[in-house]
Amino acid sequence: MRVSLQLGSLAVALSAANAKHLQPRSNPPACNNSASTLSLTEAPYNNYFYSDCNVAAQAVITSPQQGSDLTRISPRLIVAWPAGNSGICTFFAPQNGENGTLALELVNSTVGSPLGPVYNDSLNTEHPSVGIQGVLRLNSSATLSTAILGSIRTIRDFVEGPSILYPEIQDAVQYTSSEGRVSLSRLWLDNVTTTSLTFQPWDNSSSSKASLSNRTVSFEAGEYLFAAQMNYPQLSPLKPEAVLIGSAVNLTTTMPDQTTALSFLSYSEKLLAGAWRFLTYFGRDSMISALLLEPVLRTGNGTAMEAVLGAVLERVNRTDGSVCHEETIGDYATWSNAQNNVTSTAMLCDYKMIDSDYFLPVLMQKYLLEDPVGQKRARAFFNTPAGSINAANKNLTWGELAIINAKRIMRLAAPFANEQKKGNLIHLKEGQVVGQWRDSTYGMASDNLLLKASINITFRHWGGGRIPFDVNTALVPAALRSIAALYADHNHWARLADQYAQTWEDKSLEFFEVNVMQSDARELVESYKNRSAFEGPSQSASIDTDVTFYSLALEGNNHLEKVAVMNTDDCYRHFLLNTTNDDQLSRLLNSTATNIQRTFPAGLMTDAGMIVANPAFGADPVYAQNWTTGAYHGTVVWSWQLAMMAKGLERQLGRCEVRIMSSRRSSAKPAPAPGFCTDSSIYDNVVRAYNALWDSIEHNSAQLSSEVWSWVYRDGKFQVTQLASLPPPPGAGGQTESDIRQLWSLAFLAVTRNENYR
Ligand SMILES: *[C@@H]1O[C@H](CO)[C@@H](O)[C@H](O)[C@H]1NC(C)=O
Ligand SMILES: *[C@@H]1O[C@H](CO)[C@@H](O)[C@H](O)[C@H]1NC(C)=O
Ligand SMILES: *[C@@H]1O[C@H](CO)[C@@H](O)[C@H](O)[C@H]1NC(C)=O
Ligand SMILES: *[C@@H]1O[C@H](CO)[C@@H](O)[C@H](O)[C@H]1NC(C)=O
Ligand SMILES: *[C@@H]1O[C@H](CO)[C@@H](O)[C@H](O)[C@H]1NC(C)=O
Ligand SMILES: *[C@@H]1O[C@H](CO)[C@@H](O)[C@H](O)[C@H]1NC(C)=O
Ligand SMILES: *[C@@H]1O[C@H](CO)[C@@H](O)[C@H](O)[C@H]1NC(C)=O
Ligand SMILES: *[C@@H]1O[C@H](CO)[C@@H](O)[C@H](O)[C@H]1NC(C)=O
Ligand SMILES: *[C@@H]1O[C@H](CO)[C@@H](O)[C@H](O)[C@H]1NC(C)=O
Ligand SMILES: *[C@@H]1O[C@H](CO)[C@@H](O)[C@H](O)[C@H]1NC(C)=O
Ligand SMILES: *[C@@H]1O[C@H](CO)[C@@H](O)[C@H](O)[C@H]1NC(C)=O
Ligand SMILES: *[C@@H]1O[C@H](CO)[C@@H](O)[C@H](O)[C@H]1NC(C)=O
Repeated sequence: MRVSLQLGSLAVALSAANAKHLQPRSNPPACNNSASTLSLTEAPYNNYFYSDCNVAAQAVITSPQQGSDLTRISPRLIVAWPAGNSGICTFFAPQNGENGTLALELVNSTVGSPLGPVYNDSLNTEHPSVGIQGVLRLNSSATLSTAILGSIRTIRDFVEGPSILYPEIQDAVQYTSSEGRVSLSRLWLDNVTTTSLTFQPWDNSSSSKASLSNRTVSFEAGEYLFAAQMNYPQLSPLKPEAVLIGSAVNLTTTMPDQTTALSFLSYSEKLLAGAWRFLTYFGRDSMISALLLEPVLRTGNGTAMEAVLGAVLERVNRTDGSVCHEETIGDYATWSNAQNNVTSTAMLCDYKMIDSDYFLPVLMQKYLLEDPVGQKRARAFFNTPAGSINAANKNLTWGELAIINAKRIMRLAAPFANEQKKGNLIHLKEGQVVGQWRDSTYGMASDNLLLKASINITFRHWGGGRIPFDVNTALVPAALRSIAALYADHNHWARLADQYAQTWEDKSLEFFEVNVMQSDARELVESYKNRSAFEGPSQSASIDTDVTFYSLALEGNNHLEKVAVMNTDDCYRHFLLNTTNDDQLSRLLNSTATNIQRTFPAGLMTDAGMIVANPAFGADPVYAQNWTTGAYHGTVVWSWQLAMMAKGLERQLGRCEVRIMSSRRSSAKPAPAPGFCTDSSIYDNVVRAYNALWDSIEHNSAQLSSEVWSWVYRDGKFQVTQLASLPPPPGAGGQTESDIRQLWSLAFLAVTRNENYR
C-alpha cells in the first residue's frame, strides 16, 4: 500500500495550464487550503482521492493482475463523488478479445499526481460543473464495453447484483466524438444535472485515438486525458480542526493515511460511511464510528460529532421515531420516486433496520451529557430546526425528533420488560429479512439479498433469523440506560427506563445461550471439513472444555430455534453495558475470551484476524454452505468489530480497577467490582484474550482501515485475501468488493492497546 500527500494548489495551477484540452472553463475560486490527495494501491484496485474547496471525488482503477480471476476482475474506471452519491463506472475490454491482456493505469502528469480538479462554470447552470481529471494509460487497444453515468446506487445495482442496467438510464447516455476525442454525457432524471466523461489523446505524438461507432467507443493503445464532471451541488467539507481534537493533531503525522481518509469522509451535513461504495449517510455506521472515535473527535457547533448526530436526527421518521439507515439522494432518489409514480427529486430514507434506533440515545448521552462542550451546546442543539436536508421533518426541531425516537424505544421495550417471553423480544420488521449490521445474504441466517441497496433477486429459502442477538441483549438495554440519563428531569420516564433496562440486561441473554458438550464440539469441528471447503486442521484438540456461545439470532425457518453460529456480536454488550448479574457476566465474558483465543474452526481466531462468524458448530450442512470465506458476513474479518471487541474487553477489565461511581446523583457510593474480577480463571482468561486480539490486530495493521477482508488457507496459514477475489456463497448473486476506506474502520485512530494488560 502506498500513500502520497500532495499540495493541490500546484495541481490547480498545472491543470489550468492544460485548459486548452478541455471544454470552455473558467478559473475556479481559489481555495485557502491546499488540496488533499491520497493514493492507495491494493491490486487489482488502485484508489485515488482528491479534494479541495471546490470538489471532492475518488477514482478507482481496476486492472487485472497475473492470477486475477478474470470472470470477476475486468478493466474498470470508477469516479465517485460524495455529492449526490454520484458516480461514473466504465468497463473496458481488450480489442483482441483475450481477457487479462488489457491493463489500465493512471499516470502522473502535468494535470496532477495523478489527479487534478475540473471546474467549469461557463455552462449557464446554477452550479458549476466540477470533478477530476487525469491521464489514463491503456497498454493495448480497447473497447468501452459498459458506461453508467449518474448514481453510485445504479452502479452498485450493476456490479453487485446480477448486472442490472436500467434502460431509462442507459439509453439517456449521449455519445459524441471529434478528432480523436470522445464524450459521454447524461442528463439526470431531475432534468438539471449532467454528468459527463471525456477522453482525448494526451500525448499528440503517440498513437492514441478514441473513436465512436454508433454507441461503441474504441481506443488505440496509448495515453488519454480523461475528465469526469457534474454540476450537482457539492457538500461542505469539515476543516481538519473541526474533525479531530487539538491533542489528536499528532495523528496527522503518525497516521496520515487514516486522518486524510477521515477528512475525506467528513462534511458539515454528515459523515460518509465508506469509499467508494458508501459515500453517503448511513445511520448505524456513523453512530458506531462516533462512539468508537469519540476520544479524538472534535465536539461543538459545526464539528464532526454534531455532523453525525445532526444527520441522524434530521432523518428520523417523524411518525414512528425510527432512525434512517441509508438515505437515497441524487439521481437514484428521482429514479426511486418514479418507481412509485412520483415526480420528485426529494431524498428518501430507508427505515428497515431495527438496530439503528438504539444508537441514537447512547451517542446523545455521550455528547450532550458527558462531554463538557456538549453540555453547553445541548439547548441550542435541541432547538435546531429540522428540515433543511430532509423536508419531511419541517416544523420539528432536532430535540423533538430525539424525543419521538426515545418514545419509540420505550414503546418497543415495554412488552418484554413486563413479561419475559421470547415473543416479546424485538423482531425484524414485518416482511424484512435484514435488520442489523449483518445485513447481507446469510448475514444472520437470512434468506435475503437486500444488501445495502434494494436489489430484488430470487434466493433460496431457509434460515431467516428473526430475533437478533445484538439488538436484544445489548442495544435495547444500553439505549434505555441512556434515556434514563438523558431524561433524568422527567422523573417517571427516567425511573421506568432504568427499570426496563435492568430487566432487559438480566433476562434477554439466556434466550441466546448455546452450550455444546466438549465431545460433541470436537466431533463438530472435525466433521466441519466434510461440510465445507476448509483445508486447515480442525483444531479439535484445543477444545478442552464444553463450548458456550450466544447464537446470532433466534427463530430461523426450518424450525431452527437458534442460529448456531459462533460470532462476535457480544462485543456490543462488553462495549456498551456495565451489567450487574455476576453469574451471567462471568459466563459471557469467559466464553468470549475462550472463543476469541481458539483458532478457527474451534474458535474465532485466524492469522488474518478475528472472524465475525464461525458456522462450524452448526451440524446442518447449510451453515457451512452459507457462512463462507466469500460471504460478506461469513468467516471474514471486519475491522470495526476488532476495535469494538478490543475496547469492550478493556472496559470490562477496567471495572475491576475503577471503583464505579453510581450514576445516581443522590448516592455517591462506589459500585462493587464485578465477581469475575476475583475469579482468576476468568480474569486471566480475559486478559489473555485481550492480548491475543491485540497481537492479531497489530499483525494485520496493513488492512485495518479497509471495510472487510477474507483469507485462504495455504502453507499452513490463514492468508489475507480480498473478499472480491473469492466466489460468493451459492445463491448470493454478485460478489461484494470491500471499500478501501470505511468510516468505522478508522476507529483505530482512537482505539489503542492498553499496555497495562500486557
Ligand atoms: C471476457 O470477459 C467478459 C466480461 O467478464 C466476458 O463477458 C467474456 O465472455 C470474456 N471473454 C472471453 C473470451 O473469455
Ligand atoms: C506520482 O506522484 C506521486 C506524488 O508525487 C508519487 O508519490 C508517485 O510515486 C508518482 N508515481 C509514479 C508512478 O511516478
Ligand atoms: C423531466 O422532464 C420530463 C420531460 O419533460 C418530465 O416528464 C419529467 O417529469 C421531468 N422530471 C422531473 C423530476 O421534473
Ligand atoms: C446502434 O445502436 C442501436 C442501439 O443500441 C442499435 O439498435 C443499432 O442496431 C446499432 N446500429 C449498428 C449499425 O450497430
Ligand atoms: C504529540 O505532539 C506534541 C507536541 O507537538 C509532542 O510533544 C508529543 O511528543 C507528541 N506525541 C506523540 C505521541 O507523538
Ligand atoms: C452554529 O454555527 C452556525 C454556522 O456557523 C451558526 O450559524 C450558528 O449561529 C451557530 N450556533 C450557535 C448556537 O453557536
Ligand atoms: C414512517 O413511519 C410510518 C409508521 O411506521 C410509516 O408508515 C412511514 O412509511 C414511514 N415513513 C417513511 C418515509 O418510510
Ligand atoms: C405506477 O403506475 C403504473 C401505471 O399506472 C401502475 O401499473 C403501477 O402499479 C404504479 N406503481 C406504483 C408503485 O404505484
Ligand atoms: C409546516 O408548517 C407550515 C405552516 O404551518 C405548513 O404549511 C406546512 O405544511 C408544514 N410542513 C410540514 C412538513 O408539516
Ligand atoms: C421480486 O422478486 C419476487 C420473488 O422472486 C418476484 O415475485 C417479484 O415479482 C419481484 N419484484 C420485482 C419488482 O421485480
Ligand atoms: C461503566 O463503568 C465505567 C467505570 O468503570 C464507567 O466509566 C462507564 O461510564 C460505565 N459505562 C456505562 C455504559 O455505564
Ligand atoms: C473460564 O475459561 C477457562 C478457559 O476455557 C476455563 O479454564 C475456566 O474453567 C473457565 N472459568 C469458569 C469459571 O468457567
